[in-house]
Amino acid sequence: MARLSERLDNLHGSPVRAMLTAAQQPDMVSFAGGLPAPDSFADLSFPPAPLSAMQYGPTEGEPDLRARISVELACIGLDCPAHRIMVLSGSQQGIDLAAKLVIDAGAPIAVESPAYLAALQVFQFFGAQMSCLSPADPSAGWAEAPPRLAYVTPTFQNPTGRCWSGAERRALAQACDAHDVVLFEDDPYRDLAYDDCERTPVAAMVEQADWIYQGSFSKTVAPGLRLGFLAASEGVFEQLVHLKQAADLHTNRLSQFYVLHYLNDPGRAQRMGRLVNLYRERRDMFEAAMQHHLGGLADWSSPAGGLFFWAVLRGGLDAQALLPRAVARGVLFTPGVHFLVDSGAPSGAMRLNFSHADASAADRGLKVLGAVIREALG
Ligand SMILES: Cc1ncc(COP(=O)(O)O)c(C=O)c1O
Repeated sequence: MARLSERLDNLHGSPVRAMLTAAQQPDMVSFAGGLPAPDSFADLSFPPAPLSAMQYGPTEGEPDLRARISVELACIGLDCPAHRIMVLSGSQQGIDLAAKLVIDAGAPIAVESPAYLAALQVFQFFGAQMSCLSPADPSAGWAEAPPRLAYVTPTFQNPTGRCWSGAERRALAQACDAHDVVLFEDDPYRDLAYDDCERTPVAAMVEQADWIYQGSFSKTVAPGLRLGFLAASEGVFEQLVHLKQAADLHTNRLSQFYVLHYLNDPGRAQRMGRLVNLYRERRDMFEAAMQHHLGGLADWSSPAGGLFFWAVLRGGLDAQALLPRAVARGVLFTPGVHFLVDSGAPSGAMRLNFSHADASAADRGLKVLGAVIREALG
């Protein structure tokens, strides 16, 4: 029997990735992943990459791409020079690097609950003690026991779609400053904004504490490129570069070439406009179908951006227990329990993605969910 590391005790496969495999079945309606609409890729076109992209490259990423990202960040209010920007192999990698940076077994960190399940999975793997951070009072309990890191997705959160107010953002930044907590802001959904709301990065409001801000091109360009980036304060940037060196030397240079081309494309703003309109329409159609099929069975609020509805079943139902019945009838969703820090207790919440299924598939899938819920209620 091979002797494996003790760390593996804390390693659990992602329920979402397992479900994505199931979603490959023909006719399966999937509300489970955070997948872009498949037709959104049709208007992407890239020139042939230069042969130089075949060579090893710098760990931090291509200089032109980093410079471009620095300009983009300045436009959203976050001043960070190109030399403190690192290109990532998907922003999922940033979560892994941030966890390696701060977490020893038993180290306290603060996270929203619910929060992005694949981040919770990483933090758990490294043995973090997670406490819940609420936007209404982000530093509750920090005076007695400050966490090492605060992980937040303040803009169109995954899974709730919630967007923090300006006051909530300022309060978190001030709390990180006051208690010397590393802010880790995860921001992959910010460009998918359907209604007006505050989107200034919290990282732009931090004055003394160390911070990491990360973004992704998965939701706006293509997740298959596996391209994201992080910007970080001086105190932690170099360590993050060393951690990435150890992880993968550098990010795929072809993807970096494609994304730089995308960012420089004069048609980019128009394409983003089309994408946002498509997703706004999908959100609205999805919500109308929810009203029709789930009205009276669940509660939700309409997300101002991002890719998900967070619906909470009425009647004390356990959403996880409904999943096998929904899957047997060709519908996938993600039970809310996977996003909770304390995932022991059953939860009536379900995360429903609205960007991937088209209108007729969404209607069909929600009709099945409604029927499954009614049956469970007897
Ligand atoms: C909040 C959040 N962070 C990070 C990621 C990882 O994205 P990627 O690695 O594709 O950039 C996701 C993906 O859904 C996410 O929702």
